[in-house]
Amino acid sequence: MRTLSAINRSRVTLAMLVLAAGAADPASVAGAPTPRISKETQECLNCHSTYNPGLVQDWMHSLHSQVTPGEALKKRPLERRVSSENIPESLQGVVVGCYECHSLNGTNHTDNFNHFDYHINVVVSPSDCAVCHAVEAQQFAGSKKAHALGNLDKNPIFHGMVDSFTSVMDIKAGKLTPVGSSDQTKNETCYGCHGSKVQVLGTRKFCSASRNSGRKTS
Ligand code: HEC
Ligand code: HEC
Ligand code: HEC
Ligand code: HEC
Repeated sequence: MRTLSAINRSRVTLAMLVLAAGAADPASVAGAPTPRISKETQECLNCHSTYNPGLVQDWMHSLHSQVTPGEALKKRPLERRVSSENIPESLQGVVVGCYECHSLNGTNHTDNFNHFDYHINVVVSPSDCAVCHAVEAQQFAGSKKAHALGNLDKNPIFHGMVDSFTSVMDIKAGKLTPVGSSDQTKNETCYGCHGSKVQVLGTRKFCSASRNSGRKTS
């Protein structure tokens, strides 16, 4: 009898899991209190759970989808994963969703564009994270990693290393001579880790074959 009731119980659990997986709200987690998702982020999720299901799942498994900055600020210091004391009121009552990260400091972003009537940034930068994680952003800014690109580009010795290490070699007048490397090679090697410049070339009307979804505002 015990075995039977155990089987029954596992069937019930399975049925609950299936129900939870099929629930209409993509961010509802069985057993957890309903997360406070802003209405803007809910719209992002409605589309992006179809276009980028992996990205949405990653977010759902992160603390950002589960803890509001307001709740985090009430945690004991060693438990707390935010370090800014002055997180704007408007961000404190909702979880940190797509809109909350991709809409910060819009006027400082040359990559800000009109995306289905939401003004969002393509790249979320350390100064955006700093709205809630000021101490970490400051620590990072002083590290070598934050200057990895500039160090290679501006220091002539280091820049010479990029050119010579990645160069194709040829024998000229009996000497092994570097004859240069393509930008593609440099980007795949040294700059693959040391960073690259991201430039805004403009926006395009969305079509399914394009990664850039900037919608024309006119
Ligand atoms: C904690 C902040 C944060 C949250 C929350 C967040 N993102 Fe992002 N997102 C980033 C960062 C950082 C990048 C990488 C930026 C880059 O390309 O350098 C990124 C990149 C992206 C990209 C790729 C952009 C490109 O073309 O390079 C998409 C699409 C995206 N996010 C959509 C979403 C969606 C949809 C959600 C909600 C489920 C979301 N993001 C939530 C920070 C965030
Ligand atoms: C609007 C506020 C806000 C922004 C912006 C934000 N975060 Fe967070 N972050 C949070 C909150 C809230 C938590 C959970 C805090 C807690 O539970 O104590 C968190 C947690 C984290 C954690 C800890 C995760 C863990 O599992 O321990 C990391 C790492 C993190 N954020 C990185 C980032 C990065 C990188 C960015 C920028 C791309 C970013 N955050 C932007 C509010 C924010
Ligand atoms: C797999 C990732 C990776 C690749 C690829 C890479 N680097 Fe680095 N590089 C690093 C890391 C990580 C550091 C150390 C950063 C630190 O100390 O905080 C570093 C440090 C350096 C430094 C010291 C910089 C300083 O300011 O002290 C130089 C010079 C350098 N790399 C040159 C190169 C060159 C040239 C190439 C290509 C031939 C290259 N790196 C490829 C990850 C990489
Ligand atoms: C009506 C559907 C829809 C809504 C609503 C929507 N998106 Fe998108 N978004 C898309 C599509 C489609 C793409 C292009 C996907 C691709 O090319 O892989 C995209 C692309 C993006 C990109 C990448 C842009 C680029 O040029 O690389 C980001 C970042 C992004 N969306 C964030 C958001 C955020 C944040 C929200 C909520 C404020 C949101 N989206 C709302 C459909 C939508």
